[in-house]
Amino acid sequence: MLYQNDDHVYVMDHPLVAHKLTIMRDKNTSVKDFRELVSEIGMLITYEATRDLPLTTTTVETPLCTAEMPTLEGKKIAVVPILRAGLGLVDGVLRLIPSARVAHIGMYRDEETLEPHVYFCKTPHDVASRDIMIVDPMLATGGSADAAISEMKKRGCKHIKLMVLVAAPEGIKCIRERHPDVFIYCGAVDDHLNEHGYIVPGLGDAGDRIFGTK
Ligand code: PRP
Ligand code: URA
Repeated sequence: MLYQNDDHVYVMDHPLVAHKLTIMRDKNTSVKDFRELVSEIGMLITYEATRDLPLTTTTVETPLCTAEMPTLEGKKIAVVPILRAGLGLVDGVLRLIPSARVAHIGMYRDEETLEPHVYFCKTPHDVASRDIMIVDPMLATGGSADAAISEMKKRGCKHIKLMVLVAAPEGIKCIRERHPDVFIYCGAVDDHLNEHGYIVPGLGDAGDRIFGTK
């Protein structure tokens, strides 16, 4: 399936991201290194995903003069990791946006049908007024991200971005069709899904590799 770029899909085109992803794809990469790389790439994608944050100005006294300089307007943001693997990205996002709140969404997939089920969702009380960044290393069929986005919309959220490390064209297509308002940021778009719903070439089961559960 050919991947079609559009103005709601941003694929990182950066040597550092490409290099770090290649190390993550290697099945011999240690849990420690894998986890650190998830966090680092998370930070790099956050840099792009926050390009549209509004700025205002503030007065600063430099050692030389008084000047009007840019400062963040202070948009309220909530990072929403899809449990479990999404947790690996939270630290990288918070290092760049330390004031963001964190909302957790628990999701498991039926191993046979691959259908996602939400079993937990805890959000800040003012989540509807926040910009939402849903984070998960993998966008495969798109079922988990679709369910997470729908859950946040049910809670009144209007401005939603989805950040993933590796996406399958099938997953991007699913989110574009189901949620045309959502912006998707990916580290890479891979070739296809296999018959088990795994991204190929991909990097395997991201949750198992982050938490060392295999
Ligand atoms: C993985 C991944 C996504 C989902 C993507 O989680 O972290 O949440 O699969 O697949 P989809 O696009 O087809 O829904 P998984 O269900 O393996 O759970 P885990 O995070 O506990 O490992
Ligand atoms: N979930 C993963 O962790 N990896 C895949 O390739 C697909 C879904």
